[in-house]
Order: sequence, then structure tokens, then C-alpha cells
Amino acid sequence: MPLLLLSSTGIKGEIPPKGNAAKYFNEPRIKQRVDSLMRLMNLDEKIGQLVLSAAKGNITGPGESKNLDEFIKEGRCGNVFGIKTVEEAIRLQKLAMENTRLGIPLLFGFDVIHGFKTIFPVNLGISSSWDMKAIELCARVSAEEASAVGLNWTFSPMCDVSREPRWGRVSEGSGEDPYLGSQIAVAMVKGYQGDDLSAPNTIMACVKHFAAYGAPQAGRDYNSVDMSERTLRDVYLPSYQAAIDAGAATVMTAFNDYDGVPASASQFLMKDLLRKELKFKGFVVSDFTAINELIPHGVAKDGAHAGELALKAGVNMDMISNLYLFYTKQLIKEKKISIQMIDELCAEVLSMKFRLGLFDNPYAYCTPGRDMQTFYKKEHLEAARSLARSSMVLLQNNKDVLPLSKNKKIALIGPFADAAREMLGSWAMCGEPKRTTTFLQGLQARFGNENVSYSQGCNPNAEIDNGFTEAVQTARQAEIIVLALGLPQTWSGEAASLTSLQLPEVQTRLLNELKKTGKPIVMLLVTARPLDLSQEVKLADAILLTWHPGTQAGEALADVLSGEYNPSGKLTMTFPRNIGQVPIHYDMKSTGRPVGFQSVSNQKYTSKYLFTPNSPLFCFGYGLSYTHFEYTDIQVTNPKAKIGEKVQITVRIKNTGSKAGEEVVQLYIRDLIGSVTRPLKELKGFRKLYLKAGESRQLSFTLTPDELSFCRQDMTIGQESGDYHVWIGGDSDATLQSSFVIQ
Ligand code: NOJ
Repeated sequence: MPLLLLSSTGIKGEIPPKGNAAKYFNEPRIKQRVDSLMRLMNLDEKIGQLVLSAAKGNITGPGESKNLDEFIKEGRCGNVFGIKTVEEAIRLQKLAMENTRLGIPLLFGFDVIHGFKTIFPVNLGISSSWDMKAIELCARVSAEEASAVGLNWTFSPMCDVSREPRWGRVSEGSGEDPYLGSQIAVAMVKGYQGDDLSAPNTIMACVKHFAAYGAPQAGRDYNSVDMSERTLRDVYLPSYQAAIDAGAATVMTAFNDYDGVPASASQFLMKDLLRKELKFKGFVVSDFTAINELIPHGVAKDGAHAGELALKAGVNMDMISNLYLFYTKQLIKEKKISIQMIDELCAEVLSMKFRLGLFDNPYAYCTPGRDMQTFYKKEHLEAARSLARSSMVLLQNNKDVLPLSKNKKIALIGPFADAAREMLGSWAMCGEPKRTTTFLQGLQARFGNENVSYSQGCNPNAEIDNGFTEAVQTARQAEIIVLALGLPQTWSGEAASLTSLQLPEVQTRLLNELKKTGKPIVMLLVTARPLDLSQEVKLADAILLTWHPGTQAGEALADVLSGEYNPSGKLTMTFPRNIGQVPIHYDMKSTGRPVGFQSVSNQKYTSKYLFTPNSPLFCFGYGLSYTHFEYTDIQVTNPKAKIGEKVQITVRIKNTGSKAGEEVVQLYIRDLIGSVTRPLKELKGFRKLYLKAGESRQLSFTLTPDELSFCRQDMTIGQESGDYHVWIGGDSDATLQSSFVIQ
């Protein structure tokens, strides 16, 4: 058994370290261990560390997995993509440990995006909770469960800011705002990685997709990105930067080209920005076959050329393409790539394997039985339920039709009412519909079977026999209609771009039919992207945006509809009036011919549409509660601050309603005159606050010089002197305003 021949450090022949674990994992010590291992490695073994191949059947893109076992045994594949069971992890790790000369352990990576077994809401939903502790906990639970099957690396968080609802992947991000996106990125990295990467229940995070993947032209996935460097720096880089500053171990390249160069071949992105400016110290993995895609992008003439470009850009690991595996030696022979370059790329991968503690115990993540003890733990389900309900956004609640009283006769109707798989959303590969509660189950359990009748009405995109007739009959016998509409989960996520943001026509027809019954309608909206709800707001009395809420969908919905939980979610992406407004986001610029964001104007020659206001249907930050909050007394403590000084602002918030509730208090600023045009509003602070009925509280916010900095005309990042407005309120339309000067 070669495993038994290993020293306790994991490197054959290495002297075991002394001292405690913390000392042991310090940088010089890791470097020393990497160096001594690399001295023993031959070129094939070094190249093997740069290869990430897929386990059978777990492919999430084009291509198929071939010869994985052989490559592992030959030491030519050092990393595996997509295992789902601990048995498979142990089997593959054994192949590496028992067959290769040096017994270098494998990494196991997979897409654990919003939960592993216990599924949380889709990420855009999660972001709408504005609750950083809950989001960190979601990542922590994900890491606990994923690591229990041997995974030590997740391809998350997706830090791509996006203003493009046509793009299906907005579901995986945190919305349109760089400030909020940055905070969420930090929370997720902390949750996955914890304080100690070598603990067997923490996993490496992967910041993706570097860079600017969230802005594909026309919202078509994988399409080109063309934006100014200023926008890249002001809007897109901050979230990646925040995740990297929080210690994210890895970064993934984006599929797209930026300024004409595909990310996986871009020395500007990977070296100048990522390594030099953002000071990233971990390793970079390509996206799925993205190195091979340099050929159809038209920058590489063949596989060898593609590999060369990616190696030169400093992409450490080739996901799936196998081009490093097949061409690196040839590239070295032809002197296109130096051995020193391979050494550097390999060392960065190895040092992460040391940090994970894999050389001390390659099976640290592979304890049989831990999986079953860990999946769906009570506290995991509680965390999922809590985040699912605090992610839900109440968009409309005419005449306070919600919450529902206890004995209300409910007709639950719609294609998403009893649809377990739909509750999980995209990127929930290990989620289990059979462990998921549907809306129907949740409402029947809370309101009683006798009070909740059900009819499907239609399929998401097609009629069913007698569907409408039965739905109308069910509705007639009830006091209120709860109608679950939305988009199928396959219509969001990767490769799921749309050119319409409306609900499928059959669903709107069902809504119209039900409207004729005269019963009040509460519409539940299952979606992972903003939609055009301009028809629905006229037909439904209440609209609750549930997202794809995850494993605990039924319980969370029952909490909100019954009023046991007072909704507190706020939109993190603008909901447009129609698709023609896209891209629309709250932090737009004034233009030279402004008409104001709110109104339609008859003035010719202004920046507007002829027949549609510039304002959205629901703005960023928007969301109702069963209570009301009043904002007063905004004050800037030091209204004349010098460059480099902090600015402090206070405000008073009162719960003026009769129910306790949480409010997301949001602070926005506007820099009135700059060397470059500045957004009309920018989020620069928020706090989620619980207030009892009648309670009021004073809050204080501090704006730091960093938060007041931006990419100036000379492309440096920093502050400028001048006048600022500041608003505090419950959404980005906040009107309570004060001002300050930076001198
Ligand atoms: C492609 C996606 O862009 C990326 O986010 C994901 O991590 C990989 N596929 C692996 O599934």
C-alpha cells in the first residue's frame, strides 16, 4: 500500500513539520513544502496539476469525460470536476494515491451555487434578503454538505454584476449593484472558506467569471462584452475585488471576450488586473472548455495555440479542454512556453492543496457516513427556510389583501403550485425534489387541507385538458385565489437567454380567466430574473415574488402568507416596464438632456422614450412589508469634510404600522459635479433593521473615503472635491435628502 509509505506530511520522503497547525500553514512553510515537492516532480507530473477533468456523467457543458481513471493513474490529471458521492471521491483519490509516483492528492471541484443537498433560493433571490449573516450561513451550510461527499472546491460565488435580465445567468448573481454585490461576495467567501481552509468542512471559493461576463451584448449568453475600462473599474471589478480581498482561493476566467480579447487569453485581465492590481494570490481556472473556445473565438488557430495563449495569460488550470494535457510538452519543446512558466503555475495549484491540508490527509474530506449525517440537518433546513422567506419580495398588496387570515378558503392554482423541481431553480444538481416541499404542501400544512383546494390550471407554457375550467371552478368555491405563475427553472441559468420578459401567454390568459370570478388574486411569482409585469399588476391584487425558493419552499411561503413572517425582501435588480427599457438600472447617468427618471415628458429633444416613462415598474431596492416605515431627521454630522475624511450621516426610522417588521434602510449618494459624469444615485450603505410596531430608532452611517472614490478622468481611483447629495430611505426612489461637501 503506497499510502502507508507516505510521511505524515503527505510528501514521500519529506520530514514531518513541527509546531501547531497555524504555524504549519504559514506562507514560508507552504512555500518551502511546495518547493521541496516540486524538486521531486517531473514535467508530466507538473502538467498534470494544471488539468481538471470531469467525472463520468457530471458534465455541465459541451463535451464528454474520457479516460479519467487512466489519466489520474498516470499522474496526468490532478483535479476532478463533478463528483457527487463520497464513494466516488474515495475511489478516485485512491487511484491517485496508490498509482502515482508522488501520491499528490486530487482536488474535487463542483458547482455548489445555492446549496448542495439543502437548496436555498436562487442567488438573485438570496441577494434580495440583504442579509449578510444569512447569506454567509447559506455558504457555510453549502460547504458543510458539499465537503461531506469529498468536495473541497466550489465554483462560486458568481460575482458578475448584471443589468441584463435577458441574460439567464442573472439568476446566479447578486443583481445590478456593485456595492451590494461586493458585500455579498465577501459573505459567501467567508461562508465557504471559514477561517481555516484546512478544516474538512471548509471548501475553496472560486470568484467568477473574470471579467465582466455579466454584460454580454444583447443579453445573449457567451456573447462579446464591450465596455469602457472606466465602467469595468467602477461597476464590474469591485465585487471580484471584494471577494479576492476576503481571501478567495481561486478565480475562474469568463467565456466572453473583453475589448476584443477572450478572457482566457487576456494578459491584461489575468496578469495586469487580477494579479498585479487586485493582488490575487491563488490560482486561476478556465471556465468549461473556455481554452478550447479560443479557436472559435478566432484568436487561436488550433489546440496547441489555444493552450499557449492561456498559459501565457497565466491561467493555471484547464477545465475540461485537456489542451494543457496534450500540448504543453510540445509547446515547451518548440520554446513557446518555458518550464519556469509551468513551474510557477503548478506551484500556485499545489500551494492550495497544502492549504487545504490534503497532503496531511488526502482523505480528510472523504469520511464515509459523514454525508448522511450532514445532509438536511435540522439547522440547515432552518437556515434555508429563513433565507427563503426573507428573500421573498412583496411587490404589490392592494387593500392589504395579505396576510391571509387563518380560516380563509384558499384556491391554490397554477403550474408552479405543486412543482417540487421548480422550487429548486437552476444549478441545484444535487437537490432532491422528493425532499422539497411545494407551495401546496406548505399551505395545506399551515392552513389545513380543508381550507386549501388545488388546481393546476395549465402547464408553464401550454394548456392542459380542462385546465382553465377546473381552475375557475376551484376558484369559485374559495374566498381568495393564490395563483403560482412564473418561468420554468430551465429558462434561467446558463445558456438561457430570452428576448421576452413576459410570462408565457397561457399563464396570463389563466390570470385573466380567474380575474373574471371577481375573487381577490394573490399572485406568486416564481422566477430567477426580472420580468415585465405590466399586465399582471393590473390584474392581481397582491404579487409576491418568491423566486425559486429552494428545499423549504412550502414552509417559507406559508410563513409569509400567514403573516407569521413579515416580508422584508427588496429588489436587487430593477424590474422594467417592458423589455425595450433594458438595460435599465437605478444608477444611470443624467445625460445632457435629462428628463428625470420618474415622469413621461412632452418635451422634445430630451433623453426619453416617446410612449414609455424612463422609470421602471419596480425600482432597485423596492419591496413592501405588512407594516410601514417612516424616515425623518436626516442629518450629516460633518457636512464639510476634507478629502480623506469620513462623512457621518444619521437618520430616524419609525415603524408606523401595527405589526413588527424588518426594513432594509438604504443610503444613496450623488456626486453633483465630477471630472467625469457620475450616476444619479449610488448605493453606499444599508442596514437591515427589525422594529416592533410603533418603535423608532436612530441609525448612523459612515461614508469612507474609499466609498467616495471612483475612476477619475485620468483613470486613477480616488476622491474629488465637490458637492454631494445623500438620501436615506426604503428604496432607490428615496426622497429624504441632505447634502455635504468634500473640500
Ligand atoms: C460553465 C459556467 O460558466 C461556470 O460558471 C461553471 O462553473 C462551469 N460551467 C462548470 O460547471
